[in-house]
Amino acid sequence: MRPALDGLSRDGVLAWLRERDEEALGALWRRADQVRRARVGDAVHLRGLVEVTNYCVRHCAYCGIAACAGPLRRYRMTHDEILACARQGRDFGFGTIVLQGGEDPGLTGPFVAGVVRAIKAETGAAITLSLGERDDADLREWRRAGADRYLLRFETTDAALYRRIHPDVAGTVSDRLGQLLRMRDMGYEIGTGVMIGIPGQTWDTLADDIWTFRDYDMDMIGIGPYLPGPRTPLAGALGAELAAPPADQVPNDELTTLKAMALTRLVCPDTNIPSTTALSVLDPAAGRANGLCRGANVVMPNLTPPEYRVLYEIYPGKAAVHETADALAERVIALVDSLGRTTGSGPGTRLRTPPRN
Ligand code: 5AD
Repeated sequence: MRPALDGLSRDGVLAWLRERDEEALGALWRRADQVRRARVGDAVHLRGLVEVTNYCVRHCAYCGIAACAGPLRRYRMTHDEILACARQGRDFGFGTIVLQGGEDPGLTGPFVAGVVRAIKAETGAAITLSLGERDDADLREWRRAGADRYLLRFETTDAALYRRIHPDVAGTVSDRLGQLLRMRDMGYEIGTGVMIGIPGQTWDTLADDIWTFRDYDMDMIGIGPYLPGPRTPLAGALGAELAAPPADQVPNDELTTLKAMALTRLVCPDTNIPSTTALSVLDPAAGRANGLCRGANVVMPNLTPPEYRVLYEIYPGKAAVHETADALAERVIALVDSLGRTTGSGPGTRLRTPPRN
């Protein structure tokens, strides 16, 4: 007996993650799409992504811009460059600007606060930050400057696995869930997420990950496939060491990513879920659309100038690396149209919508 899709338990999530029957999965896709429509509507919110720095002090074993990642030209955008991207986002009608970067102490608290204030004043857009693990003083300053949201994926609920793929920076202990909760208290909307199919991620772990999204009532949840980067430790010996036995190891494929997204929509019905760039790298023709039809209601088109975008290869083959922001924005808007959905107007803040009887 398959668990009913309504009122899923953590073990129900686990059973559905392992499901392979196409007809049964068809029911999962339909239910996720229905719940998405009933609870967050047909609007697809567009968030313009600006990759502001590729400097990083971390040594994450999966990431192409880790401190130890081979010879890589590093960049940090200037205030004016970031602002020019934000204006472009406003001109496309994007309600949110996302500033993302490596964990870069050179990106100082006051610098980011100044950029946030300027973007707010000029565009009125909602501002999401995704700048890694920062101290509370910076986070408070950025919130006061007008930042609305913060993205920080916890990557996995398996603490031992987390330490292996995300080594601590000397003198600190990484506590991303703790930081997320503190940011919620500061008044941020908080977003998190995981990669699908990192070596050592088991079906059980992934069910716990999804259940954690629900337990913490996350406002935004990004789920994308793990894409092994050449020259990263996790793609080599470390990955081989960490991989779970085949029956337990989660594959890093599109089907599993879509199952995790659909199940997340069912257990966190009114959260914001992006159809991620990583999914569209795995399936350039249909990945983004598949995500939007199986629970997602957000897309994050890239506004980073192409000369920097090529240097922000956190994973290989990041979609549309050479496409201009205009071309990309137009393509995304056309896709939303072709699905019979609308592009969101306004900031696309998470609204806690009660279930309809
Ligand atoms: N494959 C897929 N996603 C990745 N990320 C980092 N490296 C990779 C990779 N190799 C994701 C992480 C991080 C987010 C910004 O990008 O989950 O939190």
